[in-house]
Amino acid sequence: MISRPKALNALNHKLLYELQQIFSELENEKLRALIITGEGKAFIAGADVQEMRGMTPQQARDFALTGQSLFKKIEQFPCPVIAAINGYALGGGMELALSCDIRIADENAKFGQPEVGLGITPGFSGTHRLAKHVGISQAKELIFTAEIINCEKAYEIGLVSRLTSEGMVVEEATKVAKKISNNSKTAVAYSKISIEKSHMQNLDTANLIERDLFGLCFAEEDQKEGMDAFLNKRKPNFK
Ligand code: CAA
Repeated sequence: MISRPKALNALNHKLLYELQQIFSELENEKLRALIITGEGKAFIAGADVQEMRGMTPQQARDFALTGQSLFKKIEQFPCPVIAAINGYALGGGMELALSCDIRIADENAKFGQPEVGLGITPGFSGTHRLAKHVGISQAKELIFTAEIINCEKAYEIGLVSRLTSEGMVVEEATKVAKKISNNSKTAVAYSKISIEKSHMQNLDTANLIERDLFGLCFAEEDQKEGMDAFLNKRKPNFK
């Protein structure tokens, strides 16, 4: 469980580092499936704007690399990883969900890539993975408009594969995990490798382009205005 509820589980360096550690340790366990969820009313409301606010372009690029590496690790994790999305999955939170194998959402779940409203691009592989999951046209609309969508819309565009009522998402994810664990562990793992490998050729190039552009945003006035506006609870005034 991602547990930083006061900041709606926003991903800061510390949390990214802890997740890296946990996934490295779990890699050696004989797991059949893994479920990720968030504590409180959010799954994850994105990367931590407070922490990103003062970053230089190089620091932002390094931050993107940290998130991209973690999410690649999740995507390549030896057993299926299920995102049990209990609330806001925005920005880096949506990107984490996209790196999981299966996404299940409860009726309170909300999705979006709000980065352009902060004067930045998505930075944790969202530009690549969102298009992979929902197609380029839907991905562009979501990223360019920064629109927040509800669980029904997410289901309609194929972003999530199951919906549940409030509070039932971990239970539903557990049912799916149990079904998976009735099957051959090796065959499931090989299927995962096969599915991912056929889509993965472009990930490293895409990640490099994304983090270069993410870093460049931090040399612009818009990033300062966008993040200052969010943290001071006002509308940004982009020139
Ligand atoms: N970073 C840091 N703090 C965050 C946060 C974030 N991404 N999201 C929420 N918080 C904090 C808020 O600042 C607030 O803190 P205070 O209580 O100290 O004021 C607390 O969490 C609760 O949030 P709200 O009061 O805003 O709660 P709400 O219910 O009114 O709104 C929300 C919820 C719509 C999710 C709103 O919090 C929001 O818009 N959050 C930011 C979403 C966002 O822009 N995410 C993308 C970040 S950029 C990114 O992720 C880049 C990348 O790809 C690497």
